[in-house]
Amino acid sequence: MWNIDHLIIDGVVVLAPMAGVTSSGYRQFMKPFGVAVSVTEMVSDMGLIYDNDETNKYVIYPEEHITGVQLFGHTPETIAKAGQLALKLNPNIDFFDINMGCPVNKVVDTGAGSSLIKNPKLCGEIVKALKEATNKPVTAKIRLGWDNNNLTYLEVIDELEKAGVAAIAIHARTRKEMYMGNPHYELLKDLRKQMHVPLIISGNIFTLDDAINAKNITGADAIMVARGAMGNPWLIKQIDHYYRTGERLENKTVLDQIKYCEELADYYIQEKGEATAMRIYRGISTKFFSGFKNAKYYKNRLCMELTDRESLTRILNEMKEEITNQ
Ligand SMILES: Cc1cc2nc3c(=O)[nH]c(=O)nc-3n(C[C@H](O)[C@H](O)[C@H](O)COP(=O)(O)O)c2cc1C
Repeated sequence: MWNIDHLIIDGVVVLAPMAGVTSSGYRQFMKPFGVAVSVTEMVSDMGLIYDNDETNKYVIYPEEHITGVQLFGHTPETIAKAGQLALKLNPNIDFFDINMGCPVNKVVDTGAGSSLIKNPKLCGEIVKALKEATNKPVTAKIRLGWDNNNLTYLEVIDELEKAGVAAIAIHARTRKEMYMGNPHYELLKDLRKQMHVPLIISGNIFTLDDAINAKNITGADAIMVARGAMGNPWLIKQIDHYYRTGERLENKTVLDQIKYCEELADYYIQEKGEATAMRIYRGISTKFFSGFKNAKYYKNRLCMELTDRESLTRILNEMKEEITNQ
């Protein structure tokens, strides 16, 4: 058990925010595998302030706990205002998270995302303002720093803690590293011991052993699962189960993966309608079949041929047939 302020968290798996992926349908699908905390896709503070319908949709979701809304922006005032507006749209929001890690130029160029970690004081001011404006717990998601010569995470953590942050997630890479290479867990050895709030660790969590390793080195309270669960929801169960029982669960078969792929498609369809859901799913559906010996052929077909639910069924049925005939 650990806490995000007054929220008691029973479990070690935090479902990472991933723009374009972790919408409400995705979160609902993943939850029963053992997600203790979920975070929305990042939401623009200015989008909420301008009352943009597309932005508002990110914070309006069926009742779902424990879930935080992740905001991005670069001034305490606008993020605080956005938090208040989000709560008006959805009073069920459990907490807010602030994006201090997005490396994408479009975001960084506005001073948001990982630009913030160049300015630790501003990070603290944003947390303080959002907390005061919303009266909700506020967490932050940071990176190690801008690049290897500017590793600011310790100063950022210090300012965030002084400002009353409820927990901190660290993606153990710099902005410059984007999503590539190995995360630098060695730098974060026993980091939790130096901190006063819960630590959530992120970066290349693709297997149970990756999770155990990251948690052991850093002493983190929780593990954030991102790309590793995209196409492999069972990873969440493996991690959750291990930390409850000490037992290791086997990986799932390709036939199980096909079933999961269909189930997640239906969550997206219910949420977004068939056409939009299947457009998104061209990329996501392919993630379910790594390791399958004819994966490349089917991945190509999913990318090219997926237009509606029927086309998904058709491709997956061919796959099932091939597996059963082996
Ligand atoms: C497609 C994609 C979208 C992402 N979107 C967000 C986001 O909206 N907010 C955020 O804080 N991190 C975002 N991330 C970063 C992840 O939450 C996570 O920290 C990162 O992928 C490292 O974990 P991994 O190496 O296990 O995937 C995104 C990552 C990916 C791959």
